[in-house]
Amino acid sequence: MVESESERRNGGSDTSSLEEYLYRLQKELQALRNERARLESHTFLLQKKYIELKREYDRLIQPPLMVGTVVDVLPDGRAVVKNSNGVTFLVNVLSSVYPRLRPGQQVALSQQTLAVVGILPEQKDERVKAFEVIERPNVSYKDIGGLEDVIQEVREVVELPLKEPERFKRLGIEPPKGVLLYGPPGTGKTLLAKAVAHETNATFIHVVGSELVRKFIGEGAKLVRDLFKMAREKAPAIVFIDEIDAIGAVRTETLTGGDREVQRTLVQLLAELDGFRPLEGVAIIAATNRPDILDPALLRPGRFDRIIEVPLPDEGARFEILKVLTRKLKLSKKVDLKKIAKLTEGMSGADLKAVITEAGMLAIRRNHRTITETDILDALEKVRAKKGKKQAMEYPIYG
Ligand SMILES: Nc1ncnc2c1ncn2[C@@H]1O[C@H](COP(=O)(O)OP(=O)(O)OP(=O)(O)O)[C@@H](O)[C@H]1O
Ligand SMILES: [Mg+2]
Repeated sequence: MVESESERRNGGSDTSSLEEYLYRLQKELQALRNERARLESHTFLLQKKYIELKREYDRLIQPPLMVGTVVDVLPDGRAVVKNSNGVTFLVNVLSSVYPRLRPGQQVALSQQTLAVVGILPEQKDERVKAFEVIERPNVSYKDIGGLEDVIQEVREVVELPLKEPERFKRLGIEPPKGVLLYGPPGTGKTLLAKAVAHETNATFIHVVGSELVRKFIGEGAKLVRDLFKMAREKAPAIVFIDEIDAIGAVRTETLTGGDREVQRTLVQLLAELDGFRPLEGVAIIAATNRPDILDPALLRPGRFDRIIEVPLPDEGARFEILKVLTRKLKLSKKVDLKKIAKLTEGMSGADLKAVITEAGMLAIRRNHRTITETDILDALEKVRAKKGKKQAMEYPIYG
């Protein structure tokens, strides 16, 4: 026995074929192990999916809840609620809900007992989520570089009517209703609208067109109505409609459900614009990167009838922007912003801001006491590379 084993081990073609066989078995074993691991993880995923679907199923087969309004919350843990038919009930409240319960809230009621089992999100929340409201933005004209002409025009058509409506009324002149700012991304359109609100002590109400129609599906038209109502309540106010192309793009022939939603929103916006009187403390500014695709209905007289271009900055403007952006920073005395302006052809204000921010980060990482020109030049390379990559991703070249 021992002999024959050592014989086998020591040589001959027999051994090598056995080794080969063993090797193959080991490989096969490994492959099977891998397969088992794969199947195990697959099973795990399926189990997870099953649990999710089961939960969803349980949720869906639950009896519907009724909606009511809280009239009063009693100290003994119960509440008075009114259902949608106006009938009042004294009901129990789920103990986890009770501490948050307030009169006026909309609540979910169990069908059998009418007990309060949940609080519905407030209607107002929707408005707050759809609109960003800033009482008085802290951006001023001094924070904007290189847009003197644009600022001048915006001041005339937006600021003056808000500040001194009497001057217009006396002469019987109606100022333009809406101003449309158009230009490439990051050129300071939002900044400008905020600065006007600051200058006029106005409330800044910011809505984003694409959100109105995509995030709040079915609510677009109502939100537009709410928007103008809120602006009148908060006057003086500046309504800033960003990405107006998302609601105001030329309509195509075939309307999908989404398009119809967009159209309803646009129709409401046009109606609000028509019904609205300037000189009552509300100004409307819209912005777009794509003026070419806007529905001409929006640009008709009495609507957005003042169209102002906010262009990419030229060299001089880039110098002004760089000055603004570095005003509060510690720059090395040797930094030549004119040179940086020359080197940043094609960049927007937002790009320049990214360069300066990046330069600051580099200066910190390099333990510099001031931001040096090298920091800025290196940052410039980095931002350019990132921008190039982003563009390549947005406009992939196939083939
Ligand atoms: N002219 C400028 N002067 C100073 N800073 C600027 C200027 N333009 C842009 N910036 C900087 O870039 C940031 C972005 O600008 P802003 O949001 O105003 O651009 P936008 O034109 O509204 O862009 P978008 O079309 O993408 O909405 C600003 O917060 C500011 O830091
Ligand atoms: Mg903007």
